[in-house]
Amino acid sequence: MSHLAHNYDPLPVELARADGAWAWDADGRRYLDLLAGYSALNFGHRHPALVAAAHRQLDTLTLTSRAFRHVLLEPWADRLAALTGAAMVLPMNTGAEAVETAIKAARKWGYDVKGVPDGEATIVVGAGNFHGRTTTIVSFSTDDDARRGFAPYTPGFRVVPYGDAAAVEAAIDETTVAVLLEPIQGEQGVVVPPEGFWPRVRAVCDAHDVLLVADEIQSGLGRTGTTLALDLWGVRADLTTLGKALGGGIVPISAVVGRADVLGVLTPGTHGSTFGGNPLACAVSLAVLDLLETGEHQERAKVLGEVLHGELQGLVADGLLAASRGVGLWAGFDVPVAPEPDDGAPGGAPGRALCEALLARGVLAKEAHGRTVRLAPPLVVEEEDLRWGLTQLRDALTPPR
Ligand SMILES: Cc1ncc(COP(=O)(O)O)c(C=O)c1O
Repeated sequence: MSHLAHNYDPLPVELARADGAWAWDADGRRYLDLLAGYSALNFGHRHPALVAAAHRQLDTLTLTSRAFRHVLLEPWADRLAALTGAAMVLPMNTGAEAVETAIKAARKWGYDVKGVPDGEATIVVGAGNFHGRTTTIVSFSTDDDARRGFAPYTPGFRVVPYGDAAAVEAAIDETTVAVLLEPIQGEQGVVVPPEGFWPRVRAVCDAHDVLLVADEIQSGLGRTGTTLALDLWGVRADLTTLGKALGGGIVPISAVVGRADVLGVLTPGTHGSTFGGNPLACAVSLAVLDLLETGEHQERAKVLGEVLHGELQGLVADGLLAASRGVGLWAGFDVPVAPEPDDGAPGGAPGRALCEALLARGVLAKEAHGRTVRLAPPLVVEEEDLRWGLTQLRDALTPPR
């Protein structure tokens, strides 16, 4: 019996090494990675500049805790602030921790600055959200698997339909401190809100003195063809959570970036993390910022995104997919509902079955849920390889003659 807890249901492949957009199993079989660690591997596996930065730092200083300063922490914060147009940066490790940090900062800002009565702060969130797995975060998940069995739940969240700005406004009252949303819902299947949604939510937040908190952990850092997904709509959040690609697929590092008058409410003793902003993570993340500052990867996401969405739309037009969505090098699509099998046997989840068929053809992808699959190729993928992967998808979807 395996000693590994069963909190995941991975595809039947054991990877042994990887380089760029490609990974190999122990038998030397090669796979094109079209998931890229759910966007943690935006720069591909083992990007040489990121690996070199990690090696250099391993030979000098790896951990100080936040009891002492270290020479990379302030430069990293300055560079991340400049890239994202933020005034203040708070480092953590995982995405869920960054979201927790944003929730804490928003609540404390609500009590200390906005004047919400203690214990009454509310935060408006979107149905179909995914912000991580802590007890507070699953308290406002609408996914039964994520939530059921983990009560008692943290109160203070109001769930509204995603993409409905009028519903956001209707949920706000004098206790509301923040609206917390993903710019595009990744785990839900790369759901892009209607045009006009984001500018309207920004205006609603301004009108009611409510913080706009954007969770860019999956959407940010080049994925959509812009540095932040909200750049697509020319909207700036008050707080933004970042993670995944911030550590270049080598080390976990996350951050909350945003307004100094909001993050400034967190004072010594109110929040922290032993590993948050450690020297090794900062060294790799600084090399990530070097890559992002050139704009090259954002441009690749935009250009290759046209290839990706063009091909997927072609599959929809040919009736092989029910729908496809997305921006940049990021797509969600729905497999058509299969007819009931004649023998009455359960058909299985069609998204999963497709991912298994893709695996057999040398392509790594993962279902988001049910019949929905999400693709997030590394931004370094070669156009030729991407086209090859999409041909595998077409072949896997084409019924045998
Ligand atoms: C939008 C978003 N927020 C938060 C998280 C949680 O990040 P982590 O798994 O690093 O805790 C994820 C992970 O998929 C995510 O997509």
